[in-house]
Amino acid sequence: MPDANALHDRIASNADRDLNDLLNLLRIPSVSTDPSRTSAMRETVDYLSRDLQAAGFQTSVWETGGHPALFAERTIDASKPTVLVYGHYDVQPADPLELWDSDPFDPQIVDGRIVARGASDDKGQVYAHVKAVLALHEATGTLPCNVKFLIEGEEEIGSPNLGATVEAHGKDLQSDVVLISDGAMLPGPTPTLTYGLRGLAYLEVRVTTADRDLHSGAYGGAAPNPIQALAEMIAGLKDDQGRITVPAFYDHVRELGDDERTQLERVPFDADAFQNDAGLTATPGEPGYSVLERLWARPTLDVNGIGGGFQGEGSKTVIPNTAFAKISCRLVPDQDPAAIANALEAHLKRVAPHNANVEVLQHAHGRWALSPLDGDGMTAATQAIRAVDGVDPVYVRTGGSIPVVADFQRLLGSDVVLLDMGLESDRIHSPNETFDVALYHRGIRVSAEFFRAIGQGG
Ligand code: BES
Ligand code: MN
Ligand code: MN
Repeated sequence: MPDANALHDRIASNADRDLNDLLNLLRIPSVSTDPSRTSAMRETVDYLSRDLQAAGFQTSVWETGGHPALFAERTIDASKPTVLVYGHYDVQPADPLELWDSDPFDPQIVDGRIVARGASDDKGQVYAHVKAVLALHEATGTLPCNVKFLIEGEEEIGSPNLGATVEAHGKDLQSDVVLISDGAMLPGPTPTLTYGLRGLAYLEVRVTTADRDLHSGAYGGAAPNPIQALAEMIAGLKDDQGRITVPAFYDHVRELGDDERTQLERVPFDADAFQNDAGLTATPGEPGYSVLERLWARPTLDVNGIGGGFQGEGSKTVIPNTAFAKISCRLVPDQDPAAIANALEAHLKRVAPHNANVEVLQHAHGRWALSPLDGDGMTAATQAIRAVDGVDPVYVRTGGSIPVVADFQRLLGSDVVLLDMGLESDRIHSPNETFDVALYHRGIRVSAEFFRAIGQGG
């Protein structure tokens, strides 16, 4: 067993190097949805491979049909437990660029926070694990347990190829615990472990009423308007209380048990701070549920984008022939993403006016996930947080989605633990994304302690 002091000395003395290496990783613009960034994706995989090789890992690049995934493993003793670290090296687009205070791919440190796209989601967090195994390797020449990494490049586009990759590489991915850091702790910072994720159904709807745009004087009064039709369809998706009206939508929603609801009421969540941080003036939603319940344990329906008609400067008198919207639902236990997407598609087609043609495109679905609180992963992560932070973690759910978690559980039978390193205020997916430098270094220490705890348990 490595000496804890030697290990933490090692981590402390490498702080500058570990930070600079992260900044270099953040300089590579690995935007998965942008076809012009394909070479940046490979470059990121190579960068991470070199780091893991330096920590004594064997690495391979898995072709997925989309962006490649990096797999790495180091087996030190087959009788010891194996941890699979999952993370993603792809990032969200930086748009709108003009709202950034600095270049999203030229990281700056402002008030102790790294400002860059992907700083928190997820490069900074997954890289903390890479630096943790490197520190363990440098301090002891070995690792406390067997460790594997799967770092994918398509998480932000719904991991369309990862399910098949996990299935095909089931043997390689065999592990006792899956460790993921891709989320946010509570303000404070209050260390958290996440045991629940929501799922996602995402679809695009297009309403077409004519074969071309029409003069709004020559046709107005006699031609249907697709934007009007789509707006009415969307408006009808919720009642005046905010409940979703799609038939069967709530059929399989599992209500919180009394225990979990009580536990949730004890979570130190400041609804006013939450509201203010997001710049909101209110937090409306489904009646009968607290804000946290609505964020973590209730399903949602949101319009993510809408378009159609004249968008240029000035005025143009036209009845557009087509309009579209992107609509997504966050899903909770025990909703089935495909069934919900189908129900929504059928409903949209049913409520559309007869004079409109409706096409629906379904994007990749993601399943919700729940982890048991008493698994080896949660236990080791709790010990690691106690060792580093000197407090017990708070167990939380999140409203976000990580679709592969359900695949790990279903295909590999894995125990998945989500060890959050970021903060809600990191502005993930938004301009000026950040990651607190101190929390990055803390993440490295917690990760190293996690591997030690797993090694001692096995
Ligand atoms: N890291 C996030 C998920 C997340 C968000 C966890 C907030 C905890 C708090 C992840 O990278 C993400 O953005 N996931 C997408 C998945 C989607 C594209 C299928 C999401 O939740 O929108
Ligand atoms: Mn993420
Ligand atoms: Mn994300």
